[in-house]
Amino acid sequence: MIEIRGVHKSFGSLAVLRDVSLSVPAGSVTVILGPSGSGKSTLLRCINHLEKVDRGTVRVDGELIGYRQDGDKLHELPERLVLKQRAGIGFVFQTFNLFPHMTALENVNEARGPRDALQLLDRVGLAGKAHAYPRQLSGGQQQRVAIARALALDPKLVLFDEPTSALDPELVGEVLDVMRDLARAGTTMVVVTHEIGFAREVADTVVFLDGGRIVEQGPPAEVLDNPQHERTRAFLSKVLV
Ligand SMILES: Nc1ncnc2c1ncn2[C@@H]1O[C@H](COP(=O)(O)OP(=O)(O)OP(=O)(O)O)[C@@H](O)[C@H]1O
Ligand SMILES: [Mg+2]
Repeated sequence: MIEIRGVHKSFGSLAVLRDVSLSVPAGSVTVILGPSGSGKSTLLRCINHLEKVDRGTVRVDGELIGYRQDGDKLHELPERLVLKQRAGIGFVFQTFNLFPHMTALENVNEARGPRDALQLLDRVGLAGKAHAYPRQLSGGQQQRVAIARALALDPKLVLFDEPTSALDPELVGEVLDVMRDLARAGTTMVVVTHEIGFAREVADTVVFLDGGRIVEQGPPAEVLDNPQHERTRAFLSKVLV
């Protein structure tokens, strides 16, 4: 579903992604781990062309993202076509990004997708809160509304950037439950998270990123329980405590 090949990305003189290649099969869950500043958010943002890559290619469902290929030349796509590509890729942010003046139902409807907003709210366990405003919802409930909104366009895949790290600990579980259900239903997901329990249980592949490089990747039983690289071990010893 996602094919990332040789992606480089710098901000000024700071190289943030260095030769990143990653394949994400349809229906699979990939968890990305790594220290702060290692490039996790940038990698997600490159997948839907919120950031332009400096080198390399990103393909989603076979389609080159952000560019049109002409022989061995790449031409940037016009914004209208980029928006169309981006509409097929759900994105869930750490900070929910709901419209405060709209109810839960209106927030989901705002995506103007083909899917029924009330049904989507029901799917995340919030049909009863359809007419509540974000300020009347807990953080966990707001994040579940944001997930429903991401699903409204019937995306091919959903990207999550630390979806639970802004939540009080007791609200994390309800959001992870919704994500677990999505995974079970066969949604292709790429999730930046430090929830190691979730990674162990739900991920097909765990990717460890450090200094903009993929240090190691593989099934959770390998990367989490038997890491091959010292950097991975050092990182895991910090997040597992
Ligand atoms: N738009 C930008 N302009 C300049 N530098 C940026 C920009 N976005 C990110 N960076 C830098 O790129 C590096 C990687 O940032 P990124 O947000 O991808 O890291 P991250 O792994 O998601 O970190 P965190 O765990 O703190 O969210 C950081 O050093 C950051 O300061
Ligand atoms: Mg980040």
